[in-house]
Amino acid sequence: MSSNFGLVPIMAVVAIQLFLIPSVLSLNLTNAYLHHKCNNTQGKYSKGSAFEKNINLAIRSSDSNNFLNGFGYIEKGEDPNKVFLMYQCRGDSYGSKCRSCVDAGVSEIDYENDFYLSNPNNVSDKELFNKEMSALLVELTDKATDKNNMKNNKFVLYAAGDKRIGTKTVYAMVQCTKDLVTTSCAACFEWIFKMFSECCDGKRGGRVLGTSCNFRYELYPFLRN
Ligand SMILES: *[C@@H]1O[C@H](CO)[C@@H](O)[C@H](O)[C@H]1NC(C)=O
Ligand SMILES: *[C@@H]1O[C@H](CO)[C@@H](O)[C@H](O)[C@H]1NC(C)=O
Ligand SMILES: *[C@@H]1O[C@H](CO)[C@@H](O)[C@H](O)[C@H]1NC(C)=O
Repeated sequence: MSSNFGLVPIMAVVAIQLFLIPSVLSLNLTNAYLHHKCNNTQGKYSKGSAFEKNINLAIRSSDSNNFLNGFGYIEKGEDPNKVFLMYQCRGDSYGSKCRSCVDAGVSEIDYENDFYLSNPNNVSDKELFNKEMSALLVELTDKATDKNNMKNNKFVLYAAGDKRIGTKTVYAMVQCTKDLVTTSCAACFEWIFKMFSECCDGKRGGRVLGTSCNFRYELYPFLRN
């Protein structure tokens, strides 16, 4: 992304939806702020600057977006103070649910960074689990990056599914931001799946979140139907 825009400072907001689910039976769905990282190698902007003004304009206009598609891309201002803002809500969240997620995310700015979270507890049969889990992620990737998988003239770039592994059922989702096309989405998945061993090796739940794609799996259903 940065190469396309030269030295223009780029800001991306990753609005991350965290579902705190106390138990499978009570689907108490809440948005909570997860994490952020800022990259300030291009320097910091000063208070009252044109850049700051454009950030605020971009954030305010994200507010007037309808959030219907769960995706937004906004540009404000002119070079060299132009601001780019993008958000992507999870595939089961649009409309008001996406809006509250963006509101939670917009207070923090994230740039070109990946991070992961995992359940500290291990599954009992790690090898089988990792093997079957990888197969499920590949299957979901194929579905998410299928060129024919379109909605409102846009690639869906999202897939969710579940699979029986031993005595357990694992639930998983993969998603790319809607600025990507199917090939770059597939490349993004390939890249974040490499973090599986670091994040998720034999863990009962895990997720890797990048600016352009993410995945998550749990041993309980965590998506809205
Ligand atoms: C959801 O969980 C939170 C925190 O545990 C609690 O404060 C809230 O009342 C719950 N909401 C519903 C609708 O159960
Ligand atoms: C920050 O962004 C620059 C490019 O703009 C990149 O070279 C550098 O690796 C990034 N730093 C971190 C910590 O991500
Ligand atoms: C899970 O397994 C790892 C490595 O095999 C171990 O270091 C860790 O303590 C285990 N976690 C729990 C909660 O038992």
